[in-house]
Amino acid sequence: MAREEFHRLRREILIPVHGEVLELGIGTGLNLAHYQKTVTALHAVDPALLLPKTIAARSVDLAFPLHIERGTAEALPYADRPFDYVVSTWTLCTIPDPVPALQEVRRVLKPGGRFLFLEHGRSDDRKIAAWQDRLNPIQNVIGCGCNLNRQIDRLIAQAGLHITQLDRFTMKDVPRLGGEMYRGAAIGAG
Ligand SMILES: C[S@@+](CC[C@H](N)C(=O)[O-])C[C@H]1O[C@@H](n2cnc3c(N)ncnc32)[C@H](O)[C@@H]1O
Repeated sequence: MAREEFHRLRREILIPVHGEVLELGIGTGLNLAHYQKTVTALHAVDPALLLPKTIAARSVDLAFPLHIERGTAEALPYADRPFDYVVSTWTLCTIPDPVPALQEVRRVLKPGGRFLFLEHGRSDDRKIAAWQDRLNPIQNVIGCGCNLNRQIDRLIAQAGLHITQLDRFTMKDVPRLGGEMYRGAAIGAG
């Protein structure tokens, strides 16, 4: 996930992000290098802060404060509506209960705030999707809870967010089982 194509996609999706920002599932901090200086503070929630030294090294040159909480997206430790942006990259595949987590995203977004997502998920090709279903139990074990077959746009809509932009594409040089991408933006509906 540190390959150049992954970095290019991270860089692109983070270009508009500014103000108070929340990242779901920061992992090892691979997005950190790509945030713009217009971010005023970055908050992150992850239940498994496995490589704190790596995150610390990747945050040395940040132009804004980084606040990391050990917690889950399903129960975000924030008041209502503090964030201009919530970002999720390659995380909705792993969150155990994605719809409650996305309802939390909706709760913490300011009016007019945006949820940006860059995720792999269920293929539109029925044969590929059938293989994703077949192999999902194995992926769950070897991929630390990762699911191959989630229809990301449907989960976002189920949580009451309104998708304003959705790009579907297949990542180059990534097996289609894990390379069918959902990239886009959503706002709190209603
Ligand atoms: C495949 S990694 C992606 C990491 C990072 N987002 C990236 O783009 O490199 C999935 C991340 O989701 C985190 N995660 C798992 N369950 C979660 C939950 N309930 N809430 C928030 N993050 C979670 C994992 O700990 C892990 O850091």
